[in-house]
Amino acid sequence: MAKKFNTLDVAGTPVYVGQGVFGELQEHLSSKLATKEVIFLLADENTLEHCYPQLIAMVPELEKANKIIIKPGEENKTLATCEKLWNQMAVEGANRQSLLINLGGGVICDLGGFAASVFHRGMPYINIPTSLMAMIDASLGGKTGVDLYSLKNQIGLFSKPAGVYVWPGFLTTLPHRQMLSGFAEMMKHALIGDAGFWKKLTKIPMAVVTNWEDHILTAIKIKSKIVNLDPNEKGIRRQLNFGHTIGHAFETYSLRNDASPLTHGEAVAMGMICEAYISYRTLGFNHMERDEVVKNILLNFSHYKIPSIAIDELVEITHYDKKNRKGRLMMTLIRNIGDAVDGQQCELALVRESLFRYIDFSRHVPRE
Ligand code: GLY
Repeated sequence: MAKKFNTLDVAGTPVYVGQGVFGELQEHLSSKLATKEVIFLLADENTLEHCYPQLIAMVPELEKANKIIIKPGEENKTLATCEKLWNQMAVEGANRQSLLINLGGGVICDLGGFAASVFHRGMPYINIPTSLMAMIDASLGGKTGVDLYSLKNQIGLFSKPAGVYVWPGFLTTLPHRQMLSGFAEMMKHALIGDAGFWKKLTKIPMAVVTNWEDHILTAIKIKSKIVNLDPNEKGIRRQLNFGHTIGHAFETYSLRNDASPLTHGEAVAMGMICEAYISYRTLGFNHMERDEVVKNILLNFSHYKIPSIAIDELVEITHYDKKNRKGRLMMTLIRNIGDAVDGQQCELALVRESLFRYIDFSRHVPRE
């Protein structure tokens, strides 16, 4: 296989991006195979059907890996699923020298990374992300974990994968809404760290983008610049949470109220509209840039309709967000496109105001 890929360093982990990444994976696997270590491959039912055959065609050695298959969806990102994994790995002879390969989106990377990191006090794992969101975010930077009841990522640890292999070819298997979900995180990366990238992303709607590999590479570079400065999220890494404070409230609200709830990225896109407004109100974010952000989000994402009576519930959920510190609401905001500031205090009254303006934004892009 031609050596056609880029290599980046994200918090000490080599991240390979491009068409030729599986040649590199074969080299990584050869030492494990030579010493006959047990290799496990974790996938969900969807990635087993759509991505595993493509992977095996390129890395036939992995056909011998012990497969662990779980049900798809955030509702399975639990300790109960981990227990099944640990049982299967124990029965099939796993030890600290074994390897777990996570083939999937955010749930697989988060859960598999966590399960491997605590098994026998730490077994190596690698990520092969299959969704756009996992390629540019969830598979990178060593955040692993599972949910506790409906509370996301409450149990987990920072733990580095041994390698991340990003093959953009898997994107052809993704449904449109899953692409959009990753695209929201891509827009967020641009808004917090790279005005030039924002210009590229907003030139055309997502549906007609073809140069995914370039976009993925740029997005990973933005994330790695931030994560390399602050791998354990003591400060600047919180910039990656732009749009997520109010975005999580939309996500929770939608899960409670809708038969077909918002994806994480769709919720973050709506959150970014509100947080761009708060940035305008508190940090002097230019109103023309704010309108540009709203317009370009709504060019790709349908405006999620909420009645004004839902605003109390959304504010209440925001209040309980885990980024609150000692009763104060903390947020990442943007000063300019491409320039974020973390640790900004925000009054709940302003969250409420932003939600009222959000309802208006469905009718027009505001001018002031
Ligand atoms: N997904 C945000 C982070 O990795 O910090």
